[in-house]
Amino acid sequence: MPPETPGLPPVLTIDGPSGSGKGTISRAVAQRLGWHYLDSGALYRAVGVAAGWADLDLDDAGALVRCAFDTEIGFRDDPAGELRVLVNGHDATEELRTETAGAAASAIAAIPEVRAALKDRQRAFRRPPGLVADGRDMGTVIFPDAPFKVFLTASAEERAERRYKQLKDKGVSVTLDGLLREILARDARDASRAVAPLRPAEEAVRIDTTGLGIEAVVEQVLGIVGA
Ligand code: C5P
Repeated sequence: MPPETPGLPPVLTIDGPSGSGKGTISRAVAQRLGWHYLDSGALYRAVGVAAGWADLDLDDAGALVRCAFDTEIGFRDDPAGELRVLVNGHDATEELRTETAGAAASAIAAIPEVRAALKDRQRAFRRPPGLVADGRDMGTVIFPDAPFKVFLTASAEERAERRYKQLKDKGVSVTLDGLLREILARDARDASRAVAPLRPAEEAVRIDTTGLGIEAVVEQVLGIVGA
């Protein structure tokens, strides 16, 4: 079994750019380990969506920070085992998945006070028997003492194709070209922001998932945890 930081349950951090497979891999690994799961991107998306509902200006940092503190965000599994996200009591799962919500999340995530406002909420997910935390700065900022850190990558083209398939399956109409442009723009913004930019923790194990199936990656990650 994994080593534990004294007094704290173990954490496996899985960071990487959008479309690298983090969400799918993290959920599958959490299920196999019987650990909790944190989708930290959903928190940023939820604040972005709540800001949209309240008609807030994405340039009004003060209002966005208040929104980050005030927005109620809840997670629950539906009977099919799908993670549903509740924003101020409303099921906003579908809205959260849109590229508009992703772009809003990426814009507000660049505001240091918004990130600070969400820090404790993320750390509260660390409960026994363990946590799989998926995001951009899980290994670098939120859980720097995590005993297991993974950084997933994949080519931008493959990431755009994965998103395209996902969204098409859900009946969302998008173009592959448009998605690739959005992914590249979001990567650039996430990697260049001053606070908690997207980068691997030094000790993170890097896995390039280009051309790899889900199960192969899940097995590699489980191997890192020693499960
Ligand atoms: O992972 P997901 O695509 O849902 O994240 C949406 C956006 O939220 C990202 O593009 C990023 O800007 C931001 N984010 C972040 N830190 C995290 C998770 C997400 O800045 N830990």
